[in-house]
Amino acid sequence: FPFTTRWEKEGLQIGGCQISDLVKIHGTPLYLYDAATLRGHIQRLRQLVHEYYPGDAVVTYAAKAYFAPALARRLAAWGIGVDVVSQGELQVALKAGFSPSVIHLHGNNKSEDEIATALEVGIQAIVVDSLDELEWVEQMAQNRRCRAHIWLRITPGIAAHTHPHIQTAHTQSKFGLYLDTGEALEAIRKARASHWLHLRGLHTHLGSQIFEVEPYREAIEALFALAEQANFVPEEFSPGGGWGVRYRSDDPPDDPLPWIRVVGESVEQACEQRHWPLPRLVIEPGRWLIAQAGVAIYRVGSQKRTVDGVQIIAVDGGMADNPRVALYGARYTAVPLGYENFSGQYHPSRVVGRFCESGDILIETINLPSLRRGDLLAIPVAGAYQLSMASNYNMVGRPAVLWLEEGRVEMLQPREEVLNSSWWNG
Ligand code: LLP
Repeated sequence: FPFTTRWEKEGLQIGGCQISDLVKIHGTPLYLYDAATLRGHIQRLRQLVHEYYPGDAVVTYAAKAYFAPALARRLAAWGIGVDVVSQGELQVALKAGFSPSVIHLHGNNKSEDEIATALEVGIQAIVVDSLDELEWVEQMAQNRRCRAHIWLRITPGIAAHTHPHIQTAHTQSKFGLYLDTGEALEAIRKARASHWLHLRGLHTHLGSQIFEVEPYREAIEALFALAEQANFVPEEFSPGGGWGVRYRSDDPPDDPLPWIRVVGESVEQACEQRHWPLPRLVIEPGRWLIAQAGVAIYRVGSQKRTVDGVQIIAVDGGMADNPRVALYGARYTAVPLGYENFSGQYHPSRVVGRFCESGDILIETINLPSLRRGDLLAIPVAGAYQLSMASNYNMVGRPAVLWLEEGRVEMLQPREEVLNSSWWNG
């Protein structure tokens, strides 16, 4: 649960707000973001990079984890950078007041419009993902008579230990310039030879929900060896994001200290060995910054029991607002509200959604009291890659999302009323 969670006699409070009151006003499913938790996580990472990396360092938020205009304004004001992957995220970031100098654009198939906007506003870096794109960005910069600031995304052929769908740096990855085929080296040479390209740095991203530090060390060493081979001293360097988050008590510890220490030390050592100046270090986590700040609140609709006695609890959301269980076998926990002092029996249970398919499960096995229609169920660690991947499956609108800060409530996203949309009304 978020930092500010309190169990008062009136029930659960987050960010100084009473959850039962919020539900009365805004309905369910309801997503809540705790400002203090997000800010605390940003501060923790900033403190760690300054402790473990003697050079300049920037903490950058991967907007794909969750982004909304009112959230983006907060993040911009807190002075972090942002990694965007589409025209939508880029425009929200610009409008929210992020300086172009802290925005970088990712994507394995960026559109012409996206590259054009990036060139026009002069962002920190377009992160070039292929040799084709390198040529294309060069051409577009030349047509505009401007120099494109770029990084090259390198794929070092490392399979970090995580779900295969969220590995990104293995030899078969669709992302980045492959180290093993020689195209990474070719890209550095081409970029440096071009008048229209300013190669600022190298980037790699290993994947997501990673708890081991070794792949980071290995990737950093591989990228610096490549840079040396090309005789290229990077001004900026990004080992991506990807540090894991603890969704349940049986997940590994998720303190980012070991990650940041290995990243800081590896970059420093790689530079020391080569007598190179330290580059600006850009880390770009999404999940670790925001997952824990979010909580999903659902209402129980029906309860039944399978032949083997499993209690099936159906809630009013599910795979459309949280596809992570169906996609990656993600594992969550849930807390029924109003049962804080419950001393009765717990039953093996399954929490399922309201959507029309059997894979619409939020929690496969959990022990819960017998729940009744109308009970509220909170699912913590719901802040990353849920709403940002949400759909309108079954023509159901996306949930309302609130920002909670010292007893104040702000709407991040209104509840989406599908039946009110102009499209629906023909
Ligand atoms: N940088 C790049 C280039 C990325 O592709 C990503 C995430 C990040 C940074 C941030 O990674 P994080 O720190 O959040 O792990 N939908 C999946 C996760 C997909 C991650 C996509 N890229 C999930 O729900 O597990």
